[in-house]
Amino acid sequence: MCGIVGAISQRDVGKLLLEGLKRLEYRGYDSAGISMINHQGQLCRLRTQGRVAKLLESFEKNPIAGTLGISHTRWATHGIPHERNAHPHQSGDDIAVVHNGIVENFETLRDQLFQSGYIFHSETDTETIAHLMHCEFQKTDDFLKAAKNVAGQLKGAFALGIINVKDPDRLIAVRCGSPLVVGIGIEENFLASDPIALVGVTQQFIFLEDGDIADVKRDKITIYDKHGKEITRDIHISELTYDSASLGEYRHFMLKEIFEQPEALRTTLGCSLNENDVSPDAFGVESKACLEKTSHVTIVACGTSHHAAMIARYWIEELAHIPCQVEIASEFRYRHVIVQPNTLFVTISQSGETADTLAALRLAKEMDYLGALTICNVPASSLVRESDFAFITRAGVEVGVASTKAFTTQLLGLLLLAVTLARSTIDKKQRAKLIQLLRELPDEIDEVLKLSERIRELADLFANKQHALFLGRGLQYPVALEGALKLKEISYIHAEGYPAGELKHGPLALVDKNMPVIAVAPSNDLLEKLKSNLQEVRARGGQLIVFADTQSGIKNGDDIITIEMPKVDNLIAPIVYTVPLQLLSYYVALIKGTDVDHPRNLAKSVTVE
Ligand code: M6R
Repeated sequence: MCGIVGAISQRDVGKLLLEGLKRLEYRGYDSAGISMINHQGQLCRLRTQGRVAKLLESFEKNPIAGTLGISHTRWATHGIPHERNAHPHQSGDDIAVVHNGIVENFETLRDQLFQSGYIFHSETDTETIAHLMHCEFQKTDDFLKAAKNVAGQLKGAFALGIINVKDPDRLIAVRCGSPLVVGIGIEENFLASDPIALVGVTQQFIFLEDGDIADVKRDKITIYDKHGKEITRDIHISELTYDSASLGEYRHFMLKEIFEQPEALRTTLGCSLNENDVSPDAFGVESKACLEKTSHVTIVACGTSHHAAMIARYWIEELAHIPCQVEIASEFRYRHVIVQPNTLFVTISQSGETADTLAALRLAKEMDYLGALTICNVPASSLVRESDFAFITRAGVEVGVASTKAFTTQLLGLLLLAVTLARSTIDKKQRAKLIQLLRELPDEIDEVLKLSERIRELADLFANKQHALFLGRGLQYPVALEGALKLKEISYIHAEGYPAGELKHGPLALVDKNMPVIAVAPSNDLLEKLKSNLQEVRARGGQLIVFADTQSGIKNGDDIITIEMPKVDNLIAPIVYTVPLQLLSYYVALIKGTDVDHPRNLAKSVTVE
């Protein structure tokens, strides 16, 4: 949610600030801007509504040369997408601020500043910060001290980058709840919401902690913690490469990432298995005792990651016979939670920065949980750093807003967790069989990807549709939910996922010839029940699209289109059946002409509540 880049160097930093923004566009893309202090010591700003490409065009026409600057790509929280609301926000001609997050007390501060004579040009909370900085700098004549005073007055979650023409040799960074890293160069230093912005510029990063304020100069970085004490933070070496953030031969990141799933699963497996079992270190070297003691599991996540949790519940209860509770993070944090003895607390997140999931973890750490495990795709993220243990999914960088390879690798991690927890319920032979099944999983996904063209043809059916229903039963019910989320997220077709048995309790009223009904129907114990539910749809003229294997006996007909899936074991079927639904959403979005990788109103990393 909003991307920040900052740089202080001996060289001109304009291009670098804009290049970084392009890589942060997944965080927000309704407007973008850049502020630099030019060689004449003046603050220069360019802002545009829309994508970063427009800002690049504007910069080409009106280049700015300077060695200190900040840039921003926005996901609107306060005020419509418009140039006047785009960051950086300024106070006079001195101070410029970029901001990610929400200042909850901005109205009170704004009123006070207005009374003192400050004029506001935007509807944002960020402009308040710029004026507050100006006001504090007037009082203290000390840039760093002013920033510390401002941070102390703001409530909410925020990350800030600030520059000041009156002190043009430093870049101030503030982190409180929203992610921010300092990139270390040679005689130059940087700032970014995510290290990916600085690929090719530096590989060395300091991840700021909550409450940290960094005083970033060309040749020196000084960090103060939440108590104002100077502190040394670890330097991390990033392995990110330019390739991870480029499209290659693909038209969209989403398609690239769908096709990367076999490799992502192979890599994740490679890091988690030994010959016949899950490696004891897969969930962190010190996780063994905790996992052995676990007799309950609570999983908390948002969006697609929450769907992964719902599937995990079936696996954990079936394989390990351990009760598992699943909850949406934004609900968990505002509920009176009763913790059962020996409960393992699990979070799932692609980004590791989702505000609600992070807040739930922080809350859980104050309660009597046995330990906190996260299943996450970003090793240096806040969730990984703040959890007791972590399973790192090796999906690689996921750029498309619609989560695909992160989801299937999360599922793999969760299935491995279920196998690990099933220490007394499945014997050695069964475990080895399960592990073999997992080893074959990437090849099964390769097979499903071969259906891509067939699914592309199917997408035509959705060209004029406004609604769709997704049905599944048992382990496939959350797969149906995920299929519906993917479709609505990128094609803007209203879609709902239902457990098929629930159809007659309401949603059946919606079914007619204009309602495509998509069912995931692998042959399993619930197939006959599902078939009866599909008959209910047929009887009402609904157009059925069914993903099923040959053993299901579901045949193509006038009112039913069957896509033939490989026959796979029931346990891994949710992972396998997710893939055609991803492809279907992608191809429908192409027909609808939406911006697949940057769907409207959404952002990849949801760092606000
Ligand atoms: O980074 P996270 O996995 O914590 O993100 C949670 C959701 O915001 C995310 O899964 C969202 O639902 C995706 N855009 C779905 O494709």
